Amino acid sequence: MLKLVVLISGTGSNLRALLEALRDGVHPSAGSGASAGPARRIDAEVVAIGADSEAANLALGDEFGIPTFVVRPRDYADRAAWGDALLERIESYGPDLTVLSGFMRLVPPRVVAALSPRLLNTHPAHLPEFPGAHAVRDALAAGARETGATMMIVDNGVDTGPIIEQVRVPIHPDDSEQTLHERIKVVERRLLVDTVAGIADGTINLEEITA
Ligand code: GRF
Repeated sequence: MLKLVVLISGTGSNLRALLEALRDGVHPSAGSGASAGPARRIDAEVVAIGADSEAANLALGDEFGIPTFVVRPRDYADRAAWGDALLERIESYGPDLTVLSGFMRLVPPRVVAALSPRLLNTHPAHLPEFPGAHAVRDALAAGARETGATMMIVDNGVDTGPIIEQVRVPIHPDDSEQTLHERIKVVERRLLVDTVAGIADGTINLEEITA
């Protein structure tokens, strides 16, 4: 059983999709438009949900019976000390994989060194296009006709790590940042669930991707 710690900063809607998929199993054809086959269980569990502030949707933990923790940067002298505390909490759960799912902070180098390549991030753009915290806004401002979603391994850059999988998402002429982000998140959720399923069943090998 693959053990996951997931870090969030906001709504956690992508995490919710993952938790539901782990609870209910997934249909192999989900999202492809083909008729759904029988639900397949993913051999993985979220053992803890972490956040960088109480503003994150930690109620997900109560709902799914999963422990939560908060490690706030303002409680530490500097970013490195915050990162060390975060790492200690993550490692106390002994995860096989840590996922940044809408965690809106760069994790310090010591965290990356300790966890990567078993440290993943989802990003609402087709990297290397539109890295950074405002990927959806930046795609609209650039007048792009399509953007995307990317699942990647975290390295020390800003959204520069090895890409595991990515999918294109069209931009509609009347899109707002919100409508576009929602359309991207539908794809991100599928990528997140598929990636966890692939790591759990061994079809995705993170060490090979980084080799
Ligand atoms: C996702 O698009 C993620 O890539 C971005 O923030 C969003 C998280 O949304 N950085 P949610 O908290 O899962 O609803």
